[in-house]
Amino acid sequence: MNKRKLLFNALGSVMLLASCGGNVTSENREMDRFVSELMGKMTIEEKIGQLCQCSGGFATGPNNTKIDRTEDISKGLLGSMLNVSGAANTRKYQEAAMKSRLQIPLIFGLDVIHGFRTGFPLPLAEAASFDLDAIERSARCSAREAAAAGLHWTFAPMVDIGWDARWGRVMEGAGEDPYYGAKVAKARVHGLQGDDLSDESTIMACIKHFAGYGAPIAGKDYNSVDMSMGHFANFYMPPYKAGAEAGAATFMSAFNDFNNEPCTGSEFLLRDLLKDKWGFKGFVVSDWGSVSEMINHRYAADEKEAALKGITAGLDMEMVSECYSKNLKALVEEGKVDEKLVDDAVRRILEQKYKLGLFEDPFKYCNEEREKSVIGSKQSREDACYVAERSIVLLKNDKNILPLSKDVKRISLVGALAKSQKDMCGAWSCADVSKVVTLYDAMCERGYNVDYVEGYNLENNKIVDLNRTLSSARNSDVVIVAMGERAWQSGEMRSKGDISIAEEQQKLVSELVKTGKPVVVLMMCGRPVIFNEVRKNAPAILCTWWLSSEAGNAICNVLWGDYNPSGKLPMTFPQHNGQIPLNYQYKSTGRPTANGEWCAKYIDIPTEPAYPFGYGLSYTTFEYSDLKVNDSVNGDVYANVSVNVKNTGKYKGEEVVQLYVRDEVASVTRPIKELKGFEKISLEPGESKTVTFDITDEQLGFYNNNMDYVVEKGDFTFMVGTNSKNVQSIKYTLK
Ligand code: GLC
Repeated sequence: MNKRKLLFNALGSVMLLASCGGNVTSENREMDRFVSELMGKMTIEEKIGQLCQCSGGFATGPNNTKIDRTEDISKGLLGSMLNVSGAANTRKYQEAAMKSRLQIPLIFGLDVIHGFRTGFPLPLAEAASFDLDAIERSARCSAREAAAAGLHWTFAPMVDIGWDARWGRVMEGAGEDPYYGAKVAKARVHGLQGDDLSDESTIMACIKHFAGYGAPIAGKDYNSVDMSMGHFANFYMPPYKAGAEAGAATFMSAFNDFNNEPCTGSEFLLRDLLKDKWGFKGFVVSDWGSVSEMINHRYAADEKEAALKGITAGLDMEMVSECYSKNLKALVEEGKVDEKLVDDAVRRILEQKYKLGLFEDPFKYCNEEREKSVIGSKQSREDACYVAERSIVLLKNDKNILPLSKDVKRISLVGALAKSQKDMCGAWSCADVSKVVTLYDAMCERGYNVDYVEGYNLENNKIVDLNRTLSSARNSDVVIVAMGERAWQSGEMRSKGDISIAEEQQKLVSELVKTGKPVVVLMMCGRPVIFNEVRKNAPAILCTWWLSSEAGNAICNVLWGDYNPSGKLPMTFPQHNGQIPLNYQYKSTGRPTANGEWCAKYIDIPTEPAYPFGYGLSYTTFEYSDLKVNDSVNGDVYANVSVNVKNTGKYKGEEVVQLYVRDEVASVTRPIKELKGFEKISLEPGESKTVTFDITDEQLGFYNNNMDYVVEKGDFTFMVGTNSKNVQSIKYTLK
């Protein structure tokens, strides 16, 4: 570390707040005084204890030998626990912490990724809503329930950009677009943290996985990440930066290496970029055992070197592995680690505990009465259904089969997923599975005559009793097919080389369509999937992802038109595995795909996606007209773009009006288009609205190869429309 950084850390948070132009308010001064006074009393062992987190329950990673750390806690040798929840459980450990000499409270973290006991749609599904208020509402409810269960901290939002649908963890993020991902990151952080972390219904957020974890080579989880800094800055960095700007209390370092260094030991990422350049005031926790995994990376010879590299890089808290607890004291005593580095990490952690109000009342989150009244409340269920309805994407609706008439009486319901509470929850779920409303439950509750047939076996993907299934279809008014992958087939450690839906499943749909009955396919998945035969043959298709606790009610509300689907795909759906990674912000190249023979394409598969980014239909139709650019507006607004949108159908509906921008000629190669604005509007049949987008540096700028954000004069094309492909264009010149 250079002298500048040491000086910076030596002056503690007062310098930090001043340097970040942060208002050194009386609260901050009081916090600084309190923390400085406490640190003045701490031994080196107690300081190192604050930098250590152990798992108290189930393992969410390897090498998790469950040991009882109660004694260490009562000696002040542990700062945090993960995978423990429940007001009574956390109280027990907190009581042990209060027996320690300085009574520094523990903080409890858990992966509350999409809802707590009341489950919400997968983050990728929520992103399909393009409704930032709904997304924030989901995070708000997650925080409310998690806080009531004694938790102070969630390891969310995951903001990793994903271009590769083979990577199982795309289910956890907001999709492929950095502009949108940044907006979602801010909404989720605010939903979780609110405006005051001392409020007992708020919890600390954690921006993860820093950085670039969503771009493992070949889509293989944990694999190396290799990209230019310019590529990182433009396509992967924005959501992390947005999370820091939103005031996220914590960051999590990623498992992967980045620019040839493990993220957990990357001084560039953790100190230079996050803490210095962005002025991040919170603390960084390692992902699971990633401090010790620097040995596997062959970046550290042993745990002692891993500890040295971690603390030097700015990794503040070590999750589950014990490199810090076993080696940091010796490293300080040997003069290999300046104690000021330890102090900086301790200060960051204690400041968050102070902001949570835990020094005033360590048990403020351990209220069993509140836990009973908040978790699974009517409000939570309403929130979950509201967000789930808006996460559903209508992909096809030939002959307007949907919405179904209320007169539909006999339903042939096909597929085991229609009855599976567990699958509805998706990966990384904390939901109370016993309270999940499946599609079958919801249909029966609505009084429909449901004939359920398994149709196919999801494990061996063989059709089951075809005659029985076809007979059920022939005796119905409508056939609803719940198909896709099992929920366990996406998530961590769930990369797939083939994201196709099994042929047998698709063949069954074709057989059902041949009966001549109306067939509606519900595609249930945690990632983009390939289903070309169904896409061609099924007259109606809804992508319902994994919607969790209120899945059945939300799907029924959409099927029968109580809610007109408004979702748009936050990730491109490929036609073929060979196209992956596939996204809409591709570059022209020297031989653009559109230009005939000598161009960037395949000789054996198409280049076009099955469904493009931003795609989603409605039960009504929308017409775009009167696209205009209004030049030289004022101040930092260069211009604005306006378009008129009219509901030309017979249903009230919502439309996500999207603005894409192309910088025609720039000092670095730029994508053919990038999302730079969106607005979700609601229109009654026949109603019109003019949507206007301001054009500022945010819409026109990019990061150059020095990672400076620049806006260059010259020609631009603005594109406005209903998805990334179906747009109207207009030219603009920045003079
Ligand atoms: C896991 C995940 C990370 C999670 C952590 C704690 O391995 O990579 O996202 O927050 O461990 O469960």
